[in-house]
Amino acid sequence: MAEPLRPGRSCPLDYRYGAAALAAPASLCADTLWVVGGVYGNGCALERVLADFDAEPGDKALVFNGDFHWFDVAYDEFVRVNQAVLAHRATRGNVESELARPQAQAGCGCAYPDWVEEQTVERSNRIIGRLQATARAVPGACAQLGALPMYLVAQVGGARVAIVHGDGDALAGWGFSQEALATPAGLAAAERAFDAAGARVFASSHSCLPVLQGFSGDRALVNNGAAGMPNFAATRFGIATRISVAPSAAALYRMRVGALYVEAVAIDFDVQRWTQRFLEQWPPGSDAHDAYFSRILNGPRYRRAQALRRFEAGAAVAA
Ligand SMILES: [Fe+2]
Repeated sequence: MAEPLRPGRSCPLDYRYGAAALAAPASLCADTLWVVGGVYGNGCALERVLADFDAEPGDKALVFNGDFHWFDVAYDEFVRVNQAVLAHRATRGNVESELARPQAQAGCGCAYPDWVEEQTVERSNRIIGRLQATARAVPGACAQLGALPMYLVAQVGGARVAIVHGDGDALAGWGFSQEALATPAGLAAAERAFDAAGARVFASSHSCLPVLQGFSGDRALVNNGAAGMPNFAATRFGIATRISVAPSAAALYRMRVGALYVEAVAIDFDVQRWTQRFLEQWPPGSDAHDAYFSRILNGPRYRRAQALRRFEAGAAVAA
């Protein structure tokens, strides 16, 4: 008998595509590709991303790979984020999917693994409930979000880049999280996804902490963590992924993958302005304040040195 769905814990069935679907031909081509996941309704971070991308020289493309909404429960904030993101290429994350067509028992659609505590899951389910009410009030928004694809394949400098929100198999999968990639079985599963997708690079997000992991055959998986929230202890900037035939002077860390530079770049948004806008929507005692305000001020318990992980022969062992 199928296991009953648990709100915020289960992965909805229609989130699954399977890595072989990513073997599709590329639908965009550029010398420089930015992949920006997890804006989380932070309009200040979004402005910074667009300004920084605008300053990028040469042939370029920008993809928002999901969860661009989250804290933006105020109508005007939601509309601003929606319009700015949808002016570019975008894929939907679990947040947009659950705004587009809320599923009974999906909750936030995060498919949180067991290491995430129950209180976090319950708060997320209540946050998505409020955001759904906002989205329903914006004419056409739910249909627009529902029409977004779950993944995209790009070609950068002649190499295939598979852009997903979660992992190689599912929109809300945690297989590309830093936690899963810290295990031999997790590395082996990701290797299989590379093979099935025929990808040189995977770009993901969703799990909210960044990682740049090298694989055999000169391949790499890059998860940007969050563009709209701090990613490292005692920092306040977001992170975006930059994949290019030329390096950026501003990369926090990078890995060479054939002719490509796969990099993490800082999204140095106006923290004071963002904090004020966050507090207007989520005052002390609210679910998002309880769940995220400490991270917004102090960053998570994760260090930059933990994010960059070079390929080690023999590290991937199937469970
Ligand atoms: Fe997500």
